[in-house]
Amino acid sequence: MNGIRYSIPMHLHTVNSIVILTGAGISAESGLSTFRAENGLWCNHPIEDVATPEGFARNPVLVQQFYNQRRAQLLSVEPNAAHHALAQLAEGFKGSLLLVTQNVDNLHERAYRQRRANANFRFVHMHGELAKVRCTETEMVYDWTEDITAQTLCPCCREIGTLRPHIVWFGEMPLEMPVIYEALRKCDLFISIGTSGNVYPAAGFVAEARASGRAHTVEINLEPSQTHSLFHETRHGKATELVPKFVEELLSNRNKG
Ligand code: OAD
Repeated sequence: MNGIRYSIPMHLHTVNSIVILTGAGISAESGLSTFRAENGLWCNHPIEDVATPEGFARNPVLVQQFYNQRRAQLLSVEPNAAHHALAQLAEGFKGSLLLVTQNVDNLHERAYRQRRANANFRFVHMHGELAKVRCTETEMVYDWTEDITAQTLCPCCREIGTLRPHIVWFGEMPLEMPVIYEALRKCDLFISIGTSGNVYPAAGFVAEARASGRAHTVEINLEPSQTHSLFHETRHGKATELVPKFVEELLSNRNKG
């Protein structure tokens, strides 16, 4: 069996409110690189060059190329069994559910589109989205599938050079934090999937969820994360194997309640 602490909590049938946090590990088996693996994105592309406002100001062409490549790569990958299992959870769970992803890919929504999500389901891309761009003059956000080049005209201000990737860079504020913290305070189950626990504020969500004294907390990751000791329950192995299994347990336990 994978993992070090593995249990099916007996109280899962009473779960009414879930917050799920996902990171790059959930998309790894779809073929998207994680950030901190040996050959991960941050090995070949220094953070300060491609993921900071200062890097963008210094060399916008390099930064646009980095995100153009990653945007184009989205067209060649598909959601995997873990994304589909979370979509199944949103469909089958009748309580309130917030999915917060640090990922800028669109694999969760592509899995969800194939199902009917429940009315209480909410979805937050806290680090932005590859498939969106933002005008630096007006802050307008647009769906975007093409490359951004030095010649690309902004749809609102009709200027060149004003569009940037709709990505939260280091030193910028993650998106929708009040919504996330409110859900963390109220949730009775917090699940963290495929994240190394290196980047705050996301790495602090487990402590925030535990602060109410009510939430059961579960880590699902290939290996113990930086914050694994803060979780009540940890399951270590591949997301495509462990997430479908966990969702099945959760839905069947809840149906018993
Ligand atoms: P990391 O690259 O830091 O961590 C990915 C985690 O996923 C690691 O702990 C891996 O062990 C795990 N993992 C890899 N393959 C897996 C698999 N098949 N199944 C389950 N787990 C697997 O990525 P994040 O934690 O998402 O931010 O990184 C957080 C943030 O740091 C990113 O959103 C990005 C980055 O800098 C910004 O760009 C603002």
